[in-house]
Amino acid sequence: MQWLQGILLRVTNEVANDWWRDAVVYQVYPRSFADGNGDGTGDLIGVYDKLEYLSALGVDAIWLSPFYTSPLADGGYDVADYCDVDPRFGTLADFDLLIGRAHELNIRVIVDIVPNHSSSEHPWFREALAGIGRDRYIFRDQPNDWESIFGGPAWTQVPDGQWYLHLFDPSQPDFNWSHPDVHAFFKDVLRFWLQRGVDGFRIDVAHGMIKADGLPDVGALGHRQIELMTTAELPYFDQDGVHEIYREWRPILDEYGAMAVAEAWVSSPARLARYIGRDELHQAFNFDFMVAEFDAKSFRVVIEKSLAEAELVGAPTTWVLSNHDKPRHVTRYGGLARARAATLLMLSLPGSAYLYNGEELGLDEVTDLPPELREDPAFLRTGESRDGCRVPIPWAEGAWTNPWLPMPARWDAITADKQEHDPGSTLNFYRQAIRLRRGFRGDIQWLDVADGVLSFRRGDRRVVLNTSQSPVPIEGTVLMASGPVTDTLPPDTAVWLADR
Ligand code: NOJ
Repeated sequence: MQWLQGILLRVTNEVANDWWRDAVVYQVYPRSFADGNGDGTGDLIGVYDKLEYLSALGVDAIWLSPFYTSPLADGGYDVADYCDVDPRFGTLADFDLLIGRAHELNIRVIVDIVPNHSSSEHPWFREALAGIGRDRYIFRDQPNDWESIFGGPAWTQVPDGQWYLHLFDPSQPDFNWSHPDVHAFFKDVLRFWLQRGVDGFRIDVAHGMIKADGLPDVGALGHRQIELMTTAELPYFDQDGVHEIYREWRPILDEYGAMAVAEAWVSSPARLARYIGRDELHQAFNFDFMVAEFDAKSFRVVIEKSLAEAELVGAPTTWVLSNHDKPRHVTRYGGLARARAATLLMLSLPGSAYLYNGEELGLDEVTDLPPELREDPAFLRTGESRDGCRVPIPWAEGAWTNPWLPMPARWDAITADKQEHDPGSTLNFYRQAIRLRRGFRGDIQWLDVADGVLSFRRGDRRVVLNTSQSPVPIEGTVLMASGPVTDTLPPDTAVWLADR
């Protein structure tokens, strides 16, 4: 009987721990979210102070982008100490306070883990430069033809003549995952944060840690390797060996009932499916939705593909429209009306939705930051920059003293405090959508509609999105809409309907 009890316990735990399946997860970019100590850089106390706001927004979890000790050469995705908080972001005691209060408010906490590379300021890399333990990183006498995702060669030479690999910035040396120390180290890092109560991890470059044996040249792909990153097979991404790492990690996650979501860019849904499952990770980001055009047909293709992917892995998919790496969707789609319509579509889909801080205020991309203020290492190497989506959140006029990136004057009209009591504000639109989203049940059944219109039923609700140029008639009780509607749905608008 004990075996039966064991199975029952496991099944019960799995159901109880499956909160992530349909969760709304809010990404906090700590540097830009809220400034608790008034020094112009966001911090953990700032996040703590906003937990009531996040609870009122209705999110199930927050995902904190890295807040660990770091030179911030890549906004913290260059970690110098994986088990401490950078003084600019606060202290471990602040983290404990934050997670304690979040849990009281029923908000789960996911933290980022960056296992592909460390900062060049990490003690191991400093030792490596001094000639000690170099094999924890990837040093060679000669570079190969691999390119950095941020532009230029993926190799940098050190004074004694050897070269080290960095798939990102030279300040982000890649770990050598063939070394047992690296395996042991990251298992300890997971435990460190699990013991502090985290509910999950977002795994950075989850497809990157293992490199093909012998580090073969990519050859013919030459300078197109980054452009083809998500379609071609590359010797530094999506190697079979990464799955062994996740199989090592999963029992640790299970021990604490924690989840993990992979940031994995791979060449096909079938390849992505390999990251998910009972002995690997729980979810993977689905970036196809984020890169789809604002067009009924493109959305439908992506949704169908994503749902098929979900079937392959037996886990619901994730949806995301904005994050700290891509221009905000208000700007990508050419306006707030479309952004709100796409958001309403996203929040009606089965699976979990990841929101990016500030999208609930309808923030747009800041495209005119002066070059001297831009900090993204990709900008310094390629001229393309992700700083425009990382501008601090406008809580109220003057809420930030000397913010690390300046906020545009146009945001004075859409600060969180101005939106708070305005029933038509984007903030209240997000609050209402997150609350009402819980009422969606069951699978999607597509409905036949005109070109440029997307419509489906889930249970007793229908969703209609109009991406065409003309209004379309709608029938039923309007639960909510992304903009004004009558008995017709204007262009660039979405609606949730209940049957009459
Ligand atoms: C993906 C992160 O989202 C991005 O911000 C970072 O630059 C790279 N990984 C490297 O860690």
